[in-house]
Amino acid sequence: MSRGRVVDLDTESDDPDFDPDPDPDPDPDPDFDFDFDWNTRKSASQRMIIAPAISGTRRPDTALRWVKPLLFAACLVPFALLVWRVLTGAVGPNPVEAITHDTGDWALRLLLATLAVTPLRRLTGQAWLVRLRRMLGLYAFFYAALHFTTYLWLDQFFDWPAIAADIVKRPYITVGVAALVLMLPLAVTSTKGWIRRLGPRWKQLHRLVYAIGVLAVLHYLWLVKADLLEPGIYAAILALLLAARLPWRAWRAWWGRVRAASDTA
Ligand code: HEM
Repeated sequence: MSRGRVVDLDTESDDPDFDPDPDPDPDPDPDFDFDFDWNTRKSASQRMIIAPAISGTRRPDTALRWVKPLLFAACLVPFALLVWRVLTGAVGPNPVEAITHDTGDWALRLLLATLAVTPLRRLTGQAWLVRLRRMLGLYAFFYAALHFTTYLWLDQFFDWPAIAADIVKRPYITVGVAALVLMLPLAVTSTKGWIRRLGPRWKQLHRLVYAIGVLAVLHYLWLVKADLLEPGIYAAILALLLAARLPWRAWRAWWGRVRAASDTA
């Protein structure tokens, strides 16, 4: 049965993070794949995205068959290297600090990689990139959870009153905890079942990723005492990724109308 949909890309310009599944269809078919296999086409008058028939979405994309497991393995490399360094005593004189920094760095990098997917997809026209986003986001959460566990266990030894005092007194800990708390519902609802259950609210909920990005960068900026270069670079990348989501086309059109109106006045 053909159930192709046609989505006008112009509506995408109003949407800060257009998702290829604007209608998480509560398809009764358990094989329903949220990661649609989309074809992009251009016509002379309109740019359009044409969703293939649902039956076509189950056809595994050849490139993705390799890219997904490769990315999965690549995202595990920092963890494997860290375990290796800990086991061989190569983490330096302060292993807890090294683990905290490593896991924090990778949580932030993967969070930014997750945020880079949509702009990259728009820039390259490679719709399949979206199918890597969930994995990147879940890995960001994985490293953030490791980071937090290191803090709770190896740094604070589960001393709950001290942890509570830290959260209240140190702003960088406060925003770090806020970022992690906000990541939790996104990780939980990343499954196909939740996407189906939440419908359009899923997309609204997942816009929290922008706030998480801001909090994570703030967390880093706040904890650094002297050299702001590295957190500054992350802040600049985040600013770019957020700016890429602004509806520039709509603004340009509006500005053109304003100028045309003032010229005729
Ligand atoms: C429960 C939440 C969190 C706690 C308690 C926490 C705690 C910490 C601590 C104690 C440090 C080391 C500070 C220092 O060296 O003086 C740190 C560093 C860092 N954290 Fe977090 N953090 C949290 C959440 C996050 C999240 C969600 C991210 C990113 C998504 C993140 C990214 C970083 C980064 C990038 C660093 C700096 C690493 C470096 O210096 O190379 N943190 N965090």
